[in-house]
Amino acid sequence: MAFASGKVLLFGEHAVVHGEPAIAAGLDRGVVATRHDADELRLVVPAWDLDVRAGDGSRVGRAIEALAGTLPAEARRGRFEVSPSIPPGAGLGSSAALAVAVARAALSVANDLADEELVAAAALASERVFHGNPSGLDHTVAMRGGLIRFRRGTPPIVDPLSAAETLSLVVAPVEPGADTGAMVRGVARRVDHHPGLELLAAIGRVVDRAAACIRDGDIEAVGELMDINHGLLAALGVSTPGLDAACHRARNAGALGAKLTGAGGGGAIVALAAAEGADEIAAALGPGAFVATVAGGNHHG
Ligand code: PMV
Repeated sequence: MAFASGKVLLFGEHAVVHGEPAIAAGLDRGVVATRHDADELRLVVPAWDLDVRAGDGSRVGRAIEALAGTLPAEARRGRFEVSPSIPPGAGLGSSAALAVAVARAALSVANDLADEELVAAAALASERVFHGNPSGLDHTVAMRGGLIRFRRGTPPIVDPLSAAETLSLVVAPVEPGADTGAMVRGVARRVDHHPGLELLAAIGRVVDRAAACIRDGDIEAVGELMDINHGLLAALGVSTPGLDAACHRARNAGALGAKLTGAGGGGAIVALAAAEGADEIAAALGPGAFVATVAGGNHHG
């Protein structure tokens, strides 16, 4: 049995694909995968109505085939029963958490196979099937959890961030998410159409300021920077009326800031609550909204 975290992107999605930094937090919700011996490679996720086999032509089938292809031969078979506590396709890292949990469970067939580099390579292969050009952020957070500043690369730069004050987040799935690969291509097209606007670099500067404010415990500034990041994502064409409305609802319910999280075009928002305010914001955002806390003080990573 193996667990992997879901994630919420606090700052920097999309720009991270183009080399800018991003900040993400692992959730204590995620995906648990259990391996059963079998002569086939099969993935069953009852909560998502999913039952696929490697080679059945489905996208998830191709993803687990790609994942297994990176593993040692003895780890390439099994029936994997998966129990998620995050919704699929909402920008909360479900596909990466699924890949990491399945890779860990697959490698559990033999004690000497447990190797996080193998897990990372397997998850990246799976993410490529889903996302085309993944930054690697999702599976990095799925593997390690915590609060990190991430920059794409081979290898990526992953800096644990310690928050001086606890961040009280409200995450709310708003509507079905869009295809991440299509959203990433749409952003690339818009940026190419209007060279020189530096929207991605502006997001990078927001991320750097946000990292400093998180370290210093300036929570109000962090909230304001979330609003600014949402505006820049809207400028890139990845927000929707539903996501915009949910951000306004969160702010009206007292949030210090709110933004879409993940690829956009639908999916989820994340709001930052002042001390004690999270439950009221979650109630305003409706069923499905949940509170996620990033510990502050002497917490490291
Ligand atoms: O797939 P999602 O919705 O968790 O978002 C991924 C974040 C992007 O920056 C849009 C893509 C990436 O690979 O980092």
